[in-house]
Amino acid sequence: MEQARGERARTVAESAQDHVDGERLRRAIAQLAAFGGREDGGVSRQTLTDIDLQARRHLVERARALGCEVRIDEAANLYFRRPGEQDLPPVLTGSHVDTQPVGGKLDGAYGVLAGLELVEALNDAKVRTARPVEVVCWTNEEGSRFGPGCMGSSAFVDPARLPAYRAAVDGDQVTFGEALDRALQQMADVPRRAMKQPLAGFVELHIEQGPVLERAGVALGVVTGIQSVRWYAVKARGVAAHAGTTPMEVRADAMAACIEVAHRLQAEAAKAAGSGLRLTLGRWVVSPNSINTIPGEVEFTVDARCVDEQVLARFDAGLRTIVAGHAWRGRMELQPLFARAPTRFPQAMLDVMAQACQRASRIAGKPSPIELTSGAFHDAMYLADHCPTAMIFVPSKDGLSHNAAEETAHEDLVLGARALAHAVGWLASA
Ligand code: GLV
Ligand code: MN
Ligand code: MN
Repeated sequence: MEQARGERARTVAESAQDHVDGERLRRAIAQLAAFGGREDGGVSRQTLTDIDLQARRHLVERARALGCEVRIDEAANLYFRRPGEQDLPPVLTGSHVDTQPVGGKLDGAYGVLAGLELVEALNDAKVRTARPVEVVCWTNEEGSRFGPGCMGSSAFVDPARLPAYRAAVDGDQVTFGEALDRALQQMADVPRRAMKQPLAGFVELHIEQGPVLERAGVALGVVTGIQSVRWYAVKARGVAAHAGTTPMEVRADAMAACIEVAHRLQAEAAKAAGSGLRLTLGRWVVSPNSINTIPGEVEFTVDARCVDEQVLARFDAGLRTIVAGHAWRGRMELQPLFARAPTRFPQAMLDVMAQACQRASRIAGKPSPIELTSGAFHDAMYLADHCPTAMIFVPSKDGLSHNAAEETAHEDLVLGARALAHAVGWLASA
């Protein structure tokens, strides 16, 4: 019985893998990239903007044309379901299609489109899996318009998170709740489904967004886990005043104070250089942002990451001391925004990914896959709390992502889609 099931899983996995069509995947990536496409080859499609809603509609129509049942939940996560022989918890794959303010065409989109390519491959192979296969498009993975990131996937795992998320505002004071309601209205023809549904597993295929695979000369990576991350906002309030008339010694210049704190934080990061700590002060909001007015209010964000949670704990303590101890004429406060301990994917799932990647690499005459840790966070980070979860990476040219020039060799994208098809085909049949 066990042996027969194993045989069947292998046949389904190999058939799905062998029916992946690279040219179809190439077309799908180009079509989706047109939504928010920029002249420099990048994509601007921040979450729940008009262009993101149009891109989502395009996906819904494609999924329906493939025979999928389409559903949406309260966080506007979209699910495209290819039914199985039995009504069992599905195997889920997918990622997100929102981008950074200026992003590439692959970050997230690749995982969703490779999922739809898997549905096409199963259809072409005329294969029925025992379990349903679902492709998901998670809402607001990036966290750049509304923070924190991974709102859709983390709300799926724990719906009690959603009310707080709904209150988050973007730079124009639009709430996430308002943007969400608009998205749900636009998808009024799509039946609702509940969040926190049982899943047999989740597999996310993604570009690496870093240099490890390229440096190793390898096309596929089995992701063992995701490093820990903490986000904060530092807010300084001084006094806006005339740039020409206000003597230096009486100023409460919020920008000058923040620059000094930023230098001290960079020095902390330099001291911890060997520990793998990564520090980014990525968003600065300066008010009134005028050439001849002393900045009265400044807010900047802090993104700290490390594989070692202890390093982040030490950085956290240093950050608190630096902000609380900064002497100037104004006020400064630290607001923690988001924290996640490292994620470790289960060994049984890593074995399924390795088997899928090995076969795809062998047939393509490529070196064997390697294991690596993800430097970026992903929706899989939250799904790992809910069901057996894993990720597969393909290389990023020059390790570049969150950049219009983000690129991956097409043959590597096809290989990744083949690995995904094998892994999901296996899990949906074993
Ligand atoms: C996701 O985009 C991240 O910042 O890791
Ligand atoms: Mn992503
Ligand atoms: Mn991203």
